[in-house]
Amino acid sequence: MPCTVIAGGFWGDEGKGKIISYLALNEPLNVCVRTGSVNAAHTIWYEGKRYALHMVPGGFVNEKCRLLISAGSNVDVKQFLQEVDETNVQNRIGIDKQASIIEEKHTTQDKMGHLKTVVGTTGRGVGPAIEERVRRTAKLVRDIPELACYATDASEETNHAIDSNKNVLLEGTQGFMLSLFHGGYPYVTGRDTSASAICSEAGVGPTRLDNVILVFKSFMTRVGAGPLPGEISKEEAQRRGWFETAAGTGRDRRSAPFNFELAKRAAMINGATQLAITKLDILYPACKGARTLEELPREAKDFLHNIGEQTRVPVALVGTGPDALDIIDARS
Ligand code: IMP
Ligand code: MG
Repeated sequence: MPCTVIAGGFWGDEGKGKIISYLALNEPLNVCVRTGSVNAAHTIWYEGKRYALHMVPGGFVNEKCRLLISAGSNVDVKQFLQEVDETNVQNRIGIDKQASIIEEKHTTQDKMGHLKTVVGTTGRGVGPAIEERVRRTAKLVRDIPELACYATDASEETNHAIDSNKNVLLEGTQGFMLSLFHGGYPYVTGRDTSASAICSEAGVGPTRLDNVILVFKSFMTRVGAGPLPGEISKEEAQRRGWFETAAGTGRDRRSAPFNFELAKRAAMINGATQLAITKLDILYPACKGARTLEELPREAKDFLHNIGEQTRVPVALVGTGPDALDIIDARS
């Protein structure tokens, strides 16, 4: 692994949580850094329990892993404390003292006006908290007494771990198509979501990375406003078994078939070195629970081959069911 970034290739909800939990359980993961904020939820199935994590890194499933929240993150204090309790990670989680704080006024602002009616945000206060940070008036983690026991220099810890040849995972949130810079403005989130930005939030320089794993779902979904190429109706999505609701907000997710042109662009701008393709079993039910490529039906193999050919990035991991270990690991 040494230093790996995980990024979403579409509009979030690609199944990053599942890929992260597999990597955390399968290899000796030492440090897992979460970037972004509470607008994203990573769904993780672990020991028969479902977690929808908005703050705690998905690497928590590895009990030896140090968990960090990046300097570029925005912290919802109540949500953070609640998840620390739920996952029981009090002794091994830290937040960068420079991360900024989401206050109640930000959540209120995020649920009204343009943000609600035009963008259709998650209403978690993230965009307004970022605005405040840009204005240089935000509260930071170092200003919050309740967080004193968690405050750390996450960038220093992460770079030190990389220096010591430890396995480090930088956990991206949301998806590339929601990037403030590269997505379909104005139907985007308040930050750049690309692999470079994930490194920047974590305070890790581009030369320190070994691997960029870009995660795509076998079909595309989107919540909130903005174009979705090839969108199908809710009824059709239900018929195909593609219909989902958002882990964070409960809203319906819109859906569309996998788009190779978008995938190529995402692979290019993220500098992907490996791809993870999730939910192959939803597209091809015969794939359910498969652990090797040989078990897959011809058309599923062709689909994966086509993705690898068009993006020119090898498909390394393939999700074949909800459990962390329902995966084909095609890495050599
Ligand atoms: P915001 O990030 O809450 O400002 O929302 C901006 C847009 O990004 C809206 O369309 C949201 O639905 C979408 N969005 C933000 N985070 C996620 C995510 O983690 N998964 C899916 N959609 C997201
Ligand atoms: Mg999600």
